[in-house]
This record gives sequence, C-alpha cells and structure tokens, in this order.
Amino acid sequence: MEQNSSIEDPPFDFGRLRRFPDVEAPNLFAHDATDELILREASGALSAHDGGRVAIVGDRYGALTLAAATLHGLSGLRVHQDGRSGELALAANAARLGLEGSYSSMPLDAGLVRDAAVVLWQLPRSLEEVAEVAQLISAHASPEVRIFAGGRIKHMTVAMNAVLSQYFSSVIPGRAWRKSRPLVVGEPLATGQRGEGPASDFPKKEYHADLGLWLCAHGATFGGTKVDVGTRFLLGFVDQMRPGAAAAVDLGCGNGTIAAALAKARPALRVTATDQSAAAVAATMETAAANGLADRIDTVRDDALDSFAPASAELIVLNPPFHVGAAVHAGIAHKLFAAAARVLAPGGELWCVYNRHLDYKDALARTVGETSVMGRNSKFTVTKSTKTL
Ligand SMILES: C[S@@+](CC[C@H](N)C(=O)[O-])C[C@H]1O[C@@H](n2cnc3c(N)ncnc32)[C@H](O)[C@@H]1O
Repeated sequence: MEQNSSIEDPPFDFGRLRRFPDVEAPNLFAHDATDELILREASGALSAHDGGRVAIVGDRYGALTLAAATLHGLSGLRVHQDGRSGELALAANAARLGLEGSYSSMPLDAGLVRDAAVVLWQLPRSLEEVAEVAQLISAHASPEVRIFAGGRIKHMTVAMNAVLSQYFSSVIPGRAWRKSRPLVVGEPLATGQRGEGPASDFPKKEYHADLGLWLCAHGATFGGTKVDVGTRFLLGFVDQMRPGAAAAVDLGCGNGTIAAALAKARPALRVTATDQSAAAVAATMETAAANGLADRIDTVRDDALDSFAPASAELIVLNPPFHVGAAVHAGIAHKLFAAAARVLAPGGELWCVYNRHLDYKDALARTVGETSVMGRNSKFTVTKSTKTL
C-alpha cells in the first residue's frame, strides 16, 4: 500500500513525553508513528464515546492515553501496560501534563475491557500476546467494539491477522504511514464460532522432563513456556551459588525457570522472583504453584528492584535482557547490574549469564565488585560477582 505523507500532525505535543524511568538514549523514543496513526484512525470513535468506554492496551510510555485524553477531553480511560517501567513513565508523563486523573492502570483481565466500545492497541510482536489480548476483548468488550490497532510494518505479519481473525470477523488493514500500519478490528465472534486456534487458553503450561519442572506463560511472558538457552547453562551452577544462603532473588524472572529450579534444588532456600512484566510475574506464580513450590517462591512486580531495601539480599541470579523493544541496547543490563549492586548485602553474590560476545565482566566488576568467570560455552558466559565489603 502506498505511503500517505499528507496526514497532518495532531495538536498534541508528543515531544514532551519521556521514557523515564525506562532506559533513555538518543536512538530510543517515547512515541512512534504508530501512536499517531492509531489516534487518527480512532478519532471519530473517541469523539463519540465517553472515556469509560475506552480501553488502551500496550501503550508504550503514555502517548495513546495522554493524547486521547487531551485531544478528546476523555477521563476514566482503562489502561494496561505489561511493563512496570512503561506504567511508571505514563504516570510521570501524566503528572507533567496535569493529566493524572484521566486514566487507571489495570491488569490484563476482563475488567480492563468489559463493555468497552473502543480499544486502542499498540500491537505486540508476539502472536501469543496478540492472541491473549484478542481473546479477552472478544469475550468481554461490547459486541459493537472497534479496535484501533497498529504496529511497525516490519513487525506485522499475515499470521497476526490470522490470529485476530480467530476472534473477530472483521480485520481491516489501513493505509501505511511512516513505516507503520493501522488495523481496524471488530465484530467479535461468539465462542462457538471460533476455530481451534494455536492460543486459545492462558496461562500455557509445559512440562520439561530434563529439569523436572512445569513452566507456565502468558502471552507476553518472555520466552513463553520454553527454557531459555542461556538460563539452561546457568542452571548447571545452582549448587555453587552462595551455598548456605537462606534467600535468593530471581531478577527478571520471566516464566520463573530460575526461581523454580533454585527452590527445587535447594529446599532450604526461599526465593523472591521479580520482573517488571505483569505477564512474567503472573506466570512465575503459576509456575511456582504447578511445581508445588508456591510456599517458597514470592513474586514482586517491580522495575529493577525498586521496592527492595538496600543491602538486603545475599544472592541474586540474573539472565539480563539485551534487547530494549526493537532496538538492541545494553542499557537495561547495566540498569539491572546497578540495581543488584544496591540490593546486595556486603559479601552477597550476583550470578549472571550473558551472550559471550557481550563481555559484561568489567562492567560487573565496576558496578558490583570482584567478578569471576565461572563457566563458558560456545555461546554464553556465567559470572559470579561478589559485593564489595
Ligand atoms: C532474558 S529474560 C530472562 C527471563 C527468565 N529469568 C529466564 O531465565 O527465562 C529477562 C527478563 O528481564 C525482565 N526485565 C526487563 N527489564 C526489567 C526491569 N527493568 N526490571 C525487572 N525486570 C526486567 C524481562 O521482562 C524478562 O522477563
């Protein structure tokens, strides 16, 4: 489809939005053309409805929510963002623009979309996540609901339309603009009309006989129900991780593989699993329960250990992300190293696995303390950093 460059910019200053407390860098932005396209496509529907009938899913840093509130004078907007840092960024941006009262942050459940007539949705890349959200909207929103979705063209596939078509009979792509494309979706299918889809029920659950563990996942959980390859290598070191420790933190817990493996291998250990992703925290709770470990695994949804007291942990285990959204950026790993350094007690240990080409050893030594390479294979390095006394 041809690019349309004649769309006028709406009177909302997207430039005032910040990503903070998420990683900020010159190549990382707080809004994109998709936000503007979604808002333009939805303009008529937003003007015709009360804010209480509008739900917003996947807003990155508040562009959709705050522009909808400003341009259409809406309040009572219901918003779900999987990442805690996006939620905090929306709150900070709302405070800066005096729009704190215009929305509520909500979990991904029926309450988010119940009776919604309009949904704005920054499409995720994961088809599982598309399926989980689509399923929820089709089951609980108004039968008249119209979803104004969009994404970067390079991340949109026909498979995505196929997933949406399992839950809605109308899926209409719009005109591309600045490398983004809108999709207008509606006419929810009643449960009986839906075909058997690849992702009709969440959480998903898979048994891994090699680890003797069930792993659970929601659509947005990192890695789904799989065992991450780096994590698999790291798990070979579980017995060496601060022997005798009574408590450990699984930082960036994803589906809870590390928390569950630690708790299973070391019955004296209590584990606090934490992630900024709501889908990760929910999955880890489900993983803990599925393995009969819920009495020794607690979960906290938190951006980089924000709610943990300084010098309070004796062992932290981390497989850091190294992609920030679509941009490859190491900032998030460094942010998590700094968080671990703050929360470790003197003499406490941070165990970390990372792609061997990344070479984080010096950064770990500088940020946390003495760092030794404990293992290396063709792809990954495992390090132990001891917090300086
Ligand atoms: C490479 S995955 C590892 C997941 C899991 N531990 C595993 O081994 O499969 C990294 C995790 O870090 C989480 N993460 C990213 N940024 C974070 C932040 N600021 N605070 C806490 N967790 C974060 C991601 O949501 C993701 O689940």
